[in-house]
Amino acid sequence: MVKKITVKTIQKYKNDGEKFSVLTAYDYSTAKYIDEAGIDIVLIGDSLAMVALGYETTHSIGVEEMSIFTKAVAKGVSHAMVVTDMPFLSYHTDIPTAIKNCGQMVRFGANAVKIEGFSDYILSVIKRLVETGIPVMGHLGFTPQFLNTLGGYKIQGKTQEAAEEILKQAKELEKAGVFSIVLEMVPQEAAKYITENISVPTISCGAGKYCDAQVLVSDDVFGKFSDFKPKFARKYGDMKELIYNCAKKYNDDVKNGRFPSDEEIF
Ligand code: KIV
Repeated sequence: MVKKITVKTIQKYKNDGEKFSVLTAYDYSTAKYIDEAGIDIVLIGDSLAMVALGYETTHSIGVEEMSIFTKAVAKGVSHAMVVTDMPFLSYHTDIPTAIKNCGQMVRFGANAVKIEGFSDYILSVIKRLVETGIPVMGHLGFTPQFLNTLGGYKIQGKTQEAAEEILKQAKELEKAGVFSIVLEMVPQEAAKYITENISVPTISCGAGKYCDAQVLVSDDVFGKFSDFKPKFARKYGDMKELIYNCAKKYNDDVKNGRFPSDEEIF
């Protein structure tokens, strides 16, 4: 019997000062291998709009698509916690719609949802979700769904005042019941200050080494997505090269009569 990572495990990691890992996945097989590698949280990030579906921003993906990818990933995972990133407009209009859309992800296999941003409304959504039995991961700092209001991909929390503001928001999210908070594109020292002053784990997405956990987009880690590389991402492999080479060899074999062989026919 595989021991499942839960919100309790995640909190224990923070209490014990043990780092944990978060990685995105969008399909069954990738999720399976990531899970087998020991990743603690598999995130179906709305980044999939850009890296898997080729859209320019994360705004273009909706609840229906996220449901399909959630089902696929959840089927591949047995140990890690599965978290679905709620897409743009899926929780912003009213609380009943937020509960319905987030609840749908849980029905399809997610163990929690991630919600971006901070406002009184967001706090009330988080409270209601937690009361409903849906754990929530918060997301502060640079929040891609607010790209247009933030005026681009900009580092957040650069001044002492701005860092204090993020800390204030983090404390409010914590009070509302989130089990963890992603800090995206926040200077390392600001993220350290925030991490040391809240009780729930922080997850760095380009926020340095002092957060309780790290998250990256798997297509960046595998070297699959090549349109751009965020400064904070680390490439551990070259899937682009691998895919290109395999496709090229297959193409050559088909065209030169080397595929199929006698072992590959009935
Ligand atoms: O969409 C995503 O993949 C994310 C993580 C990188 C935090 O939000």
